[in-house]
Amino acid sequence: MADSATSVRPVTAPEIAARKGSGTPIVMITAYDAPTARVVADAGADVILVGDSVANVVLGYDDTLQVTVDDMVHHVAAVARTRPRPLVVGDMPWLSYHVSVPDTVQNAARLVRVGAGAVKLEGGRKRLDHVRAIIDAEIPVMGHLGLTPQSVHALGGFKVQGRDLEAARAIVDDAVALADAGCFAIVLECVPDAVARLVTDSIAVPTIGIGAGRHCDGQVLVFHDVLGLEDRTTPKFVRRYAELGTDARTALAAFAADVRQGRFPSSDETYHAADTVADEIARYGQTSAGADPVADAPRSGGGEPRSVGAGHSA
Ligand code: KIV
Repeated sequence: MADSATSVRPVTAPEIAARKGSGTPIVMITAYDAPTARVVADAGADVILVGDSVANVVLGYDDTLQVTVDDMVHHVAAVARTRPRPLVVGDMPWLSYHVSVPDTVQNAARLVRVGAGAVKLEGGRKRLDHVRAIIDAEIPVMGHLGLTPQSVHALGGFKVQGRDLEAARAIVDDAVALADAGCFAIVLECVPDAVARLVTDSIAVPTIGIGAGRHCDGQVLVFHDVLGLEDRTTPKFVRRYAELGTDARTALAAFAADVRQGRFPSSDETYHAADTVADEIARYGQTSAGADPVADAPRSGGGEPRSVGAGHSA
């Protein structure tokens, strides 16, 4: 069932494009399922990116190359089912836009059909034909330049990009080409801030940075990084606003200890039959076990079954 926020009009790609120069930076945060989407939407983000980083932070892979269109459809659909106010951008996974142009458009359409309002793909001039074809099919495209994790092998690892003049100029030229092709925004990942500034000043659509410094029109971080759920590695550009991984381990260890020490569940966390019924049940059990039906009957309070939380019924 759709969330209660169904009446909220979602942010659109043209609205994000129009934020260029507004003075209020765009906030984009990743999410991969319904609960994370609700948290990101409630926090007031402008854009939810269903990133292929799902590979690393949710699915346990070491890189994003393992993620398929089917995987992305599954996660975009889960996010979109919450009908969030932020624009939902679905990441196109590796090889979904590298082969034929018709297949590229069909793959983008699959993400839109399950609720994405736009798609994102990595690469610049090399991918222009594919970018144009998706835009031609009326699907807004967000570009992604700098460190493009799907090119990890070609780049020789996860490294800062655009460190020399030639590489910096190539990123600017790619950004100009993507903007000219009609991309509504461009992610800049792991580039020096001087490069991000030049790109931002060179194009008429917003740049959204991650590890690209402050001279961008917006910022994006990965949900699990911001909240300390992915705490195995912390890139330089991540600021952690919570330590949910630590909090979760502490909470679950407390639960385990309570179970092992007999402290969970308490009487309040237990359904009780009415006294008379409890007596009958006890008598029945003891009769069938050959014991005294009355003497050993436990006394228990009554109680109606109660709802134990959203989506659970007694
Ligand atoms: O997949 C992702 O999360 C991304 C961001 C790092 C921009 O592409």
